[in-house]
Formats: sequence, C-alpha cells, structure tokens
Amino acid sequence: MGKFTTEAWVLPSGRGRSEAGQLVRDTVTLSDISAEEVLAEPLYGCWEGNMTHAIQRNPIDICMARQEEKVVIGNAGVVRILKTGEAVHHLKAGDHCLLFCNGIWDEAGYPIKILGYDAPRTMGVLARRIKLHMQQVIPIPEDPRFSLPQWAAFSLRYITAYANWQVAYGCWRTQMKHTEPQDVFVCAWGGGVSLAEVTLAQQMGCQAAMVASTPERLALLQQLGIIPIDRSGLDNMAFEKKLLDLVYSQTDGKGVDIFIDNIGTPVYKLTVKALARQGVIATSGWKHGAVLPISRAMECINRHLYVHTHYASYAEGLEAVAFAQQQQWMPSLAANEKIYTWEEIPCLVEDYAAGRLDTYFPIFSINS
Ligand SMILES: NC(=O)c1ccc[n+]([C@@H]2O[C@H](COP(=O)([O-])OP(=O)(O)OC[C@H]3O[C@@H](n4cnc5c(N)ncnc54)[C@H](OP(=O)(O)O)[C@@H]3O)[C@@H](O)[C@H]2O)c1
Repeated sequence: MGKFTTEAWVLPSGRGRSEAGQLVRDTVTLSDISAEEVLAEPLYGCWEGNMTHAIQRNPIDICMARQEEKVVIGNAGVVRILKTGEAVHHLKAGDHCLLFCNGIWDEAGYPIKILGYDAPRTMGVLARRIKLHMQQVIPIPEDPRFSLPQWAAFSLRYITAYANWQVAYGCWRTQMKHTEPQDVFVCAWGGGVSLAEVTLAQQMGCQAAMVASTPERLALLQQLGIIPIDRSGLDNMAFEKKLLDLVYSQTDGKGVDIFIDNIGTPVYKLTVKALARQGVIATSGWKHGAVLPISRAMECINRHLYVHTHYASYAEGLEAVAFAQQQQWMPSLAANEKIYTWEEIPCLVEDYAAGRLDTYFPIFSINS
C-alpha cells in the first residue's frame, strides 16, 4: 500500500510560543504497517484531561517535546481493525479493540511515555485511520451488556484506576493485615479515574465516599451507593469542616484509609488531614498541581504511604478488561448521553475546558 493520507484533527506546533493551541482539520500521512502493527479505524473516543493539557501546551508543549510539526492527540477510545501485520496472529480485520495508550514502556512493561501525547511518532484517535502496535490494542469481549462508547470511556480512566487500586490496596494491606474490608473507608476527590476507583473499592466491600460539585454528579454517586460529598458553594474552611465531620462520623474518628487524590496541590493538605494512621494517598494525576509541601516527620510518624502510578502495563490492561466483564465494572453512561460528532470536536474542546460538562466521560464519534 505504501504511503497514504487520512483526515485528522491535528494540534500544530506553537513554534516556541507558549500560548494555547487549537485543533485544526488537516491530513496526515501514514506509511504501511510493520509486522507487529495494525491499521485501524477509530470509532469512538473519550475526551481526557491530558488532551486539554496538550492543547493548552501546559505543563509541556508536546509538539516541542516530540520535535514534530503537528501531533494527532487522543489516547482513549475504541477502534475497528482493518489490517494486521504478519506477526499479529490474535487479531483480524473487523475486530473491535480498545485503545491501550502505552506509548513507550520500560522493561517491566510500565509506561514511560503515552501514545497520542508525549510518545514521539505516535498517533491518537482524532484521525480517520491510525497505525498501532499490537500491544496498543486490547480485544473487546463480545458482550451485549456493554456498548462501544462504554469501552471508549473505560480504555484510559478505568484501566488507570484498576492499576492504581491494585498497588494502593496492596500497600495498605502490608500494614493493616487484619481489618475487614467493610471497615476500610475509601474517599476520593472528583474525576472519572476517581469514580472508577471508588467503585472498585466498593466491589471489594469497602465503604466509599467521593467529592463532587454538580447536582448531576452528586446524584450519580448517590445512585451508585457512594457517599456524595458536595463541595459546591463552600469556601475552603467550610468545606474542610464538612469533609472532616463526615469522615470522622463514618469512621469513629479514625479517618480515611485510602484517599484517591488526582487533584494535587490545592487539596493535598486536607487529604493528609483526613487520612487515618497507616493511610494511603493514591495518585495517578495532578489536575491542579504536582508539587506538594510534605512534612516527612509527620508522615513517618503517621505511617502514611504514598502510591504514585502512571496508566498500566499491558498485562494489567488485559486483567482490567477481564475483571470488568466478570464483575460488570463499567462506566455508566446515560441512555441519552451526548456523543459529540467529528464536526463538533472544537465544541467539545471548549465545553470541557470551560467545565460545562456534567459527565465524567465525554464521548465523541470518529468513524461511527
Ligand atoms: N497518569 C495517568 O495515567 C492518568 C490517567 C488518567 C488521568 N490522569 C490525570 O488525572 C487527573 C484527573 O483526571 P480525571 O480524568 O479523573 O478527571 P477529570 O475529568 O479531569 O475531572 C477532574 C475533576 O476534578 C474535580 N475538581 C476540579 N477542580 C477541583 C478542585 N479545585 N478541588 C477539588 N476538585 C476539583 C472536578 O469534579 P467536581 O467539580 O465535581 O468536584 C472534576 O470532575 C487529570 O490531571 C488527568 O490528566 C492521569
């Protein structure tokens, strides 16, 4: 087939300027697939925090970091396989797969750079055709209970949550061997990864609470049996009192055993304050700041453990998908969930950046 072109929404290089970029409709050139690659057509994508970070060129300018003139972003979604390389024996044309966005991985399989973000020469799902390594797709089990948009929502936030939870819960257990799951209190700040992770905690029998700020999100938490903690309309002091009162009343004054904090700097002090002795702070994100003012002395005395993970290894991705199917652990999308069309992508970019979305999983269609 040689080289061919495909339509895409691309992020052009800012050529050294630090101001935010803009997605533009363009064509990109692809070369034929190698033995270990597949050619695929993306069907649905899910908008992720890092896509907005990429457009805002903050915390890094990904075009500059990758030394590329334009980049196709988008690291969560589902694709249909069109063609497979000679070494790919477990996939065939027509298979539905979820995108597994590990771009460059270390010897143990854990991601160093992310596909469609900071991994050079990789393409995300904002294109009509993409080439992927066979370990960048996971076959979707045939199961009529789950839709392709649900799997698109699953592909990044749920896999991140699954991998983070395994480490967080495992670490917590190293010090607290005899506590029954129903006596473990898990709390999370907002976001789709947090929602996925507290529902995992719940499946293990732990008590779960989560912070949110819109009536729709609070209602969803209630419906899922997660204790909703409304942060809207409160200043920091009033919210701190509300959160600590709730946590202490639920735990007989003990505090949170595992706190999922993907927000970072502005909430860290309260996260620590609410944490029980031997508590774990579980992190895979830093939405509003990555640098923390930590008191090592107090954290040692309180035996607090800090868990930091970044997405997942391929083996964890496979495990997460198998677990999801067995346990029906899937993102709940409303029947009338808005799915942005290919033409509406700029509108989605604006709505997400402006905080106008109630959903934790903003879905868009590409070829469907
Ligand atoms: N390392 C990885 O592999 C990985 C994977 C996925 C995501 N991430 C990162 O993890 C972070 C969270 O991502 P996400 O997709 O779960 O969430 P998200 O869609 O980015 O949403 C973040 C949530 O944070 C809450 N929030 C915003 N400002 C806040 C504040 N000042 N105080 C408290 N809560 C606040 C909002 O909920 P309410 O307003 O309802 O409270 C919002 O829903 C992002 O930075 C993302 O890039 C990393």
